[in-house]
Amino acid sequence: MASKKIQSAFFCQNCGTQSPKWLGKCPQCNEWNTFVEEIIHKEDAKSRKGFSKSKVSTPTLINNIDYTQEKRIITSDSELNRVLGGGIVPGSLILLGGDPGIGKSTLLLQFALSSKNKKILYVSGEESEKQIKMRAERINKTSEHCYILTETSTTNIFQQISQINPDILVVDSIQTLHTAHIESSPGSVSQIRECTAELIKFAKETGVAVLLIGHINKDGAIAGPKILEHMVDTVLQFEGDRNHMYRILRTIKNRFGSASELGVYEMNQTGLREVSNPSEILISEREEKTSGVSIAATIEGARPLLIEIQSLVSSAVYGTPQRSGTGFDTKRLNMLLAVLEKRCGFRLAAKDVFLNITGGIKIDDTAIDLAVVCSILSSDQDIALDTQVCFAGEIGLSGEIRAVNRIEERISEAEKLGYKQIIISKYNKFNPKGFNIDIIQCKKIEDVYRLLF
Ligand code: TYD
Ligand code: MG
Repeated sequence: MASKKIQSAFFCQNCGTQSPKWLGKCPQCNEWNTFVEEIIHKEDAKSRKGFSKSKVSTPTLINNIDYTQEKRIITSDSELNRVLGGGIVPGSLILLGGDPGIGKSTLLLQFALSSKNKKILYVSGEESEKQIKMRAERINKTSEHCYILTETSTTNIFQQISQINPDILVVDSIQTLHTAHIESSPGSVSQIRECTAELIKFAKETGVAVLLIGHINKDGAIAGPKILEHMVDTVLQFEGDRNHMYRILRTIKNRFGSASELGVYEMNQTGLREVSNPSEILISEREEKTSGVSIAATIEGARPLLIEIQSLVSSAVYGTPQRSGTGFDTKRLNMLLAVLEKRCGFRLAAKDVFLNITGGIKIDDTAIDLAVVCSILSSDQDIALDTQVCFAGEIGLSGEIRAVNRIEERISEAEKLGYKQIIISKYNKFNPKGFNIDIIQCKKIEDVYRLLF
């Protein structure tokens, strides 16, 4: 009999590099201490039972390739459509990552249940049929086209697929799958890589779109080898603060559309609700004016957003003043404070500064600098800003207000939401006609200060 020798190899948990012996440092990605022993046992190619139509590819002239505009599957979830660049491309592999409990399973089950005419197979290795049904009851949806399968072996999954012939396959999660060709445990680097490879082969050959849920590790990266993200067509990230009800779906990679799209959801008792106008929820309603609050006109992905920034400046109790920012980079906060101190002469060195972006979202757009600075000054002076004013401008190291991109979109969003005035950089060029909002252009922080206080 052919010897069924158990072989083991070492795999880098970061990039998936294989080595016959243990290594302290991965020669591929230069990470230390990432090699873990895994048992592998590859059968010869002939006896592989994974998905295979065994079609031999031959080269084709590019002019002869039959190109009909890829017909995307438009889902009934408009936020998901936007994030995917206008719907799901048949035959594509979409990976959805996110913290535990953030709502990945809920999002995809909701998507599976809202399908009108596409047959969907929802494979779960994490929950039982009853649990899934309970969740479906909770989100109060049901569908004629959605099949549930609780299975983790890829061979069995492909067998069931050939019976049902779904248009879309959902897998929750890639870390629970295992293939019979490798003997290491589910969730290990080699299993994840092999199962993904089988699913890619399946998707490309049949044109079935595959949506995969992926766990993330403590650093926030998708667990498993980094190459997982290279292999799939689209990587989405579901994020948000678990204590807030808002969730953000972000594109990290997309072969079929822009990689900077953003979708906003609200998690409530009956599942996830799409939020089509996020600006309204990101600005809290208030009756009286409070100091330390300002509104920034930012752009996340393709959509303009107005967000509220709150800050609190108070005398430091301890020797070293504290500076902390939620949703805002602390290094950038320190830089802005240094500019205020050195270039504009505000005495903030002995003050604690706390900054908060409402809604629990994280903003990278530097155009919110001006709003951050104004909110800090407002708290420091204890003078409330006019609630009808918003800001869009980046602050340079010499205290100048710099131009920001796509200013017209920011201005029109502010106008749409009923703001009376927007303060932007002197250097921003735009087409002034047609705006029914007071646009004030300033050169330096001092100009804005004189204007406001
Ligand atoms: P889940 O989709 O299981 O998260 P993941 O798959 O990312 O681990 O989401 C679970 C959380 O969502 C849980 O904390 C409860 C909450 N939730 C609601 O608030 N409302 C709902 O209708 C559902 C189904 C879940
Ligand atoms: Mg889940």
